[in-house]
Amino acid sequence: MFEMLTAAPPDKIIALMGQFREDPRPGKIDLGVGVYKDAKGDTPIMAAVREAEKLLYERQSTKTYVGMAGDPLFNAAMIGLVFGDGADRARIRAAQAPGGSGALRILAELIARSKGTTVWLSDPTWPNHVPLIRAAGVTTRDYPYFDAATGTVRFDAMIAALKGAAAGDIVLLHGCCHNPTGANLDHGQWEAVADLLVSRGLFPFVDLAYQGFGDGLEEDAFGVRLLASRVPEMAVAASCSKNFAVYRDRVGTAFLLGRNPAEADIAFSQLLSVARGMYSMPPDHAAAAIRIVLEDGKLTESWKSELESMRRRMVLLREGFADALRRQSNSDRFDFIARHRGMFSRIGATPAQVEKLRKEYGVYMVGDSRINVAGLPEDRLDTLAASIVSVMAEG
Ligand SMILES: Cc1ncc(COP(=O)(O)O)c(C=O)c1O
Repeated sequence: MFEMLTAAPPDKIIALMGQFREDPRPGKIDLGVGVYKDAKGDTPIMAAVREAEKLLYERQSTKTYVGMAGDPLFNAAMIGLVFGDGADRARIRAAQAPGGSGALRILAELIARSKGTTVWLSDPTWPNHVPLIRAAGVTTRDYPYFDAATGTVRFDAMIAALKGAAAGDIVLLHGCCHNPTGANLDHGQWEAVADLLVSRGLFPFVDLAYQGFGDGLEEDAFGVRLLASRVPEMAVAASCSKNFAVYRDRVGTAFLLGRNPAEADIAFSQLLSVARGMYSMPPDHAAAAIRIVLEDGKLTESWKSELESMRRRMVLLREGFADALRRQSNSDRFDFIARHRGMFSRIGATPAQVEKLRKEYGVYMVGDSRINVAGLPEDRLDTLAASIVSVMAEG
């Protein structure tokens, strides 16, 4: 049977990780893979999560199944984190899921079961959105999003394209920290998007994978919370991979907001039936630890302050790198990097220039010139900026 198959193309980022590992040059710089890194290049376990894991070890008396929706108390804590105090909780349902990806995947299936046919994705978007959503049998279309020349959101073009969407179409929005561009909607733009979604009968599907990595935990939830206060229905996929640094443990949450509690219950029963048919029940280890963190005032404070220091480090790296690029290029063309938020920015290099940076300077970034700002070397920003400016000047 397997002779019927041809090999699937390798994942580009995983392949890049392999090349980086094998590169013997001591000064090599990894700006590729999408995980947070500290100044030493490590991705540590957060102190509050480690503490919660110790408590879990002492307290957990069983590892029996958690149920299709996972732990209701984890889900309640996540509703608070994402939707805040002002939300209409009677209309919100939440299911623990295997990472943000698992949440996106089951919500895409729910959309398909609800007869949704077309999901609009930003151009560009996180490449994995496409397979995760198309696997449910729905079509994807693109709306313009990023202007590479200025590093800003092409907001008018985005709105114009979405005006062409049919009522009932789904619009996928990055809740904050847009991946791969780092360019985000401001408050006024979120308001305008909310107006458009409501007036055209479009369904928002928000991917919130970096809450706390942009402008802060509350601020990064602005878009989700605004939409939840305005639209009749929506779906949200949240990931805990980055903001709790529990990547490999796989935890996220799939949320839905129904028009009323009865419809929310029906939709939720379908969401759980989707989960049943895909993985039955979500992994629980990190979710259990996160629940402990969020239920314990001291651990919550410790987690928030560590997350805030990670966020500030990324903002400072952005500012330092934009300064270095300004010095090296004698221009302000890279200033957008300091204005962007989240873990990523696209620096605007061509694929050939990206390749040259890797080969000649040991600087690794994704082919679309996406850099992970957490990987920037604090002590070598000018050297790195000089290599980038020199390669990009060659055309
Ligand atoms: C935009 C976006 N959404 C969702 C995810 C999913 O994260 P995970 O499945 O690891 O929780 C990621 C991870 O890189 C992402 O960048």
